[in-house]
Amino acid sequence: MRRPLVAGNWKMNLNLPQGRELVGGIRDGLAALGPAARNVETAVCPPAIYLFPLAEMLKGSEIRLGAQDVYYEPKGAFTGDLSAAMVAESGASYVILGHSERRHTIGHLEDDQMIHRKIRAALGGGLTPIICVGETLAERESGQTLDVLTFQLTAALVGLALETPERLVLAYEPVWAIGTGRNATPDQAQEAHGHLRGRLRELAGGLADGIRILYGGSMKPDNAGALLSQPDVDGGLIGGASLKADSFVGIIQAALAAPR
Ligand code: PGA
Repeated sequence: MRRPLVAGNWKMNLNLPQGRELVGGIRDGLAALGPAARNVETAVCPPAIYLFPLAEMLKGSEIRLGAQDVYYEPKGAFTGDLSAAMVAESGASYVILGHSERRHTIGHLEDDQMIHRKIRAALGGGLTPIICVGETLAERESGQTLDVLTFQLTAALVGLALETPERLVLAYEPVWAIGTGRNATPDQAQEAHGHLRGRLRELAGGLADGIRILYGGSMKPDNAGALLSQPDVDGGLIGGASLKADSFVGIIQAALAAPR
């Protein structure tokens, strides 16, 4: 009932020719999988400056585009920032918000209130937010994982009126698993995803069962199948393994094959 989504988060990697080559490779890889590839939704989230040219290249394709950030104001004197409407104008459908690299990195240090404002702005500007939540290693080791997830999710969504479940995507991204080569086990992922689904029921009622919850953190073709077979894991947000067409398409293949 939930169509899995596999989204590539390129972060601050690749130049435009490399981005074009990667998108071309993904397109060819999906074409080789045949019409069944449509059972999984595919998106790539390049640096914002590449959105317009890649949207041009992807005209007529099923591959969706996403940005990695937007600012929460609609316009004005905000040097260096991009509004949700500007990003939507490029042809992007998604925007990643609340990523740990924006919550915890010097120069950003985004707090839950800032992330909430950005989510509101994204929805108002016609983008679907992919909202990342996740605990640090210290929080996991001190038994706070589920409390952290509840807090971040509630702060993100409080007071938002959602029309359809497709307008929101969640991503469980344990901070200790991002870019470390150490992924959550399928059981750890399901525990977190099941918990998030339960909180979503409180916050979004009947829409909760239609909202996709992606797993992110060192997902690769060889661990994707087990993670994506968990009942509440509805796709992946992929960093490192999204930078090569064969590994990214390999994860999409695993999503297609995973029993749901
Ligand atoms: P990773 O990144 O796949 O390189 O761990 C995931 C993410 O940050 O979304």
